[in-house]
Amino acid sequence: MDSSSHDVLLVGGGGAGLRAAIAVAEVNPKLSVAVVSKVYPMRSHTVSAEGGAAGVARPDDSLDEHAYDTISGGDWLCDQDAVEAFVKEAREELLQMEHWGCPWSREPDGRIAVRPFGGMKKERTWFAADKTGFHMLHTLFQTSLKYNAITRYDEWFVTKLLVDDGRVQGVVAIELMSGKIQAITSKAVIVCTGGCGKVFPFTTNANIKNGDGMALAYRAGCPLKDMEFVQYHPTGLPFTGILITEAARAEGGYMLNKDGYRYLQDYDLGKPQPGPVLRTMELGPRDRLSQAFVKENEKGRTIEGPYGPVVHLDLRHLGAKLINTKLPFVRELCLKYQNIDPIKELIPVRPVVHYMMGGVHTNMNGATPIKGLYAAGEVACVSINGANRLGSNSLPELLVFGARAGKSAAAFASDQRPAGSAALTQAMDEQRRLEEQFLRKAGGRERVATIREEMQKAVESGAGIYRTAKTLQESANKLQELQERFPNIALDDHSRTFNTELTSALELSFMLDVATSIVQCALHRKESRGAHQRTDFPGRNDTEYLAHSLVTRKEDGSSQLKYLPVTITRWPPGQRVYGR
Ligand code: FUM
Repeated sequence: MDSSSHDVLLVGGGGAGLRAAIAVAEVNPKLSVAVVSKVYPMRSHTVSAEGGAAGVARPDDSLDEHAYDTISGGDWLCDQDAVEAFVKEAREELLQMEHWGCPWSREPDGRIAVRPFGGMKKERTWFAADKTGFHMLHTLFQTSLKYNAITRYDEWFVTKLLVDDGRVQGVVAIELMSGKIQAITSKAVIVCTGGCGKVFPFTTNANIKNGDGMALAYRAGCPLKDMEFVQYHPTGLPFTGILITEAARAEGGYMLNKDGYRYLQDYDLGKPQPGPVLRTMELGPRDRLSQAFVKENEKGRTIEGPYGPVVHLDLRHLGAKLINTKLPFVRELCLKYQNIDPIKELIPVRPVVHYMMGGVHTNMNGATPIKGLYAAGEVACVSINGANRLGSNSLPELLVFGARAGKSAAAFASDQRPAGSAALTQAMDEQRRLEEQFLRKAGGRERVATIREEMQKAVESGAGIYRTAKTLQESANKLQELQERFPNIALDDHSRTFNTELTSALELSFMLDVATSIVQCALHRKESRGAHQRTDFPGRNDTEYLAHSLVTRKEDGSSQLKYLPVTITRWPPGQRVYGR
């Protein structure tokens, strides 16, 4: 079996991975850094982020206000020490991006422009029109090219973390072009693979977002944290799930029900106000807006479309000039994928799975409880997002905690021994497993697509916007059945070159683990908080659940759930108040 060796290895080449790689190269230029990504870095999902990145930028704003909006938006499940560090470093990172060439949109007087965003009570969201993720990823990618110490493994699929003697020592990965299975050893690994929206049937997430890193860490014995908290974004295009950015509402768009009525005024999110900038109603937090959609639907006030009920997003009053300059991508997406022009027509939208608040359990430096294993970006749960992330906090999060993880992994790797022979033995075992269970296996009756569809349906029906013990238990039972059926999977393609049937099967096995942890954590949290709404336990219960869920895989494959208290520094739990 071939092997190669580096000091620090990144799994994932999106925003968090590239920011971490740059941090390692800057901290210790002698370290060799590997970026292993199943797609070319510029195809990572960061590229599709649209609306912007939050960081205090104006004299009438403050770090404490950004922190408070984040903590109250997260329904007090955020670790406040992490949030305090985050808001301080977010603006520094955004300025750093400017110095690396990120073309932030500007005010006419030359200042960086900021826009309001959901749940943010001040204007602090930096943006590059409505293609912010594209420009940020480009900036990070071109910056990473400066460092000779960074080696890229583009289109390599990681199947396993190598852990020996309680320490992570690298990965096993498949080179997708040749099918070669190789050990890539390292002294530290940083997982930056993004979220897992594809465990649901309807999502803004790219097909690559299968929770790979969450499952890799979980299988290596690392706890997953707060997995029950899944964010629905209120405005996805029906059928495709393509995101219509919150920036459309930040620029003044209205949400209308079937009667043309701005229904959000009925949901404790404030009343319509005069003036061009909205801070309430349409710019309430995402959990509340998605829940309001369900209620409108129950009242029969949504519009029945070919792909289910929708409401309308109305941008017509904003005018062609504003739409073409500040929301050109919204217009392009509507024209191409919905065949409508938002300058003249209403946009049909419905809530769509967008983001995981939960993920790999890390501290503020990206370190997990396993020595040498780090995580950053959406795959990780620090936690700054608590029970509901505010829009535009995830781009600065991947910068702040990508940089922090890179720095701490570099410090760790600087005085570690190279991987031992036991890691290579484990890699050979993994190669055998891949050959026997997938590549050379004959027979099998189950299809990848069938199990995937059944899984997605089960997760949506049990762990959607509203949940109950009954629906969650049904999902848990179904997922158990699918886990049992999975080993009987049949692959028709046994070739080595770009075997997408093989990668789909591996992704499905990751997703089954992740889906199971979402449902299990949701079943155990008997309260309603943020994006986790239990109709059988409608209130928030700080006495019992002001705590993070931690789910850990045991040796025998079963799992164990524990709770970890939330860190409160200066903001005791209170009510979430919007629109007043
Ligand atoms: O609507 C959006 O542009 C999404 C932003 C985010 O998730 O932060």
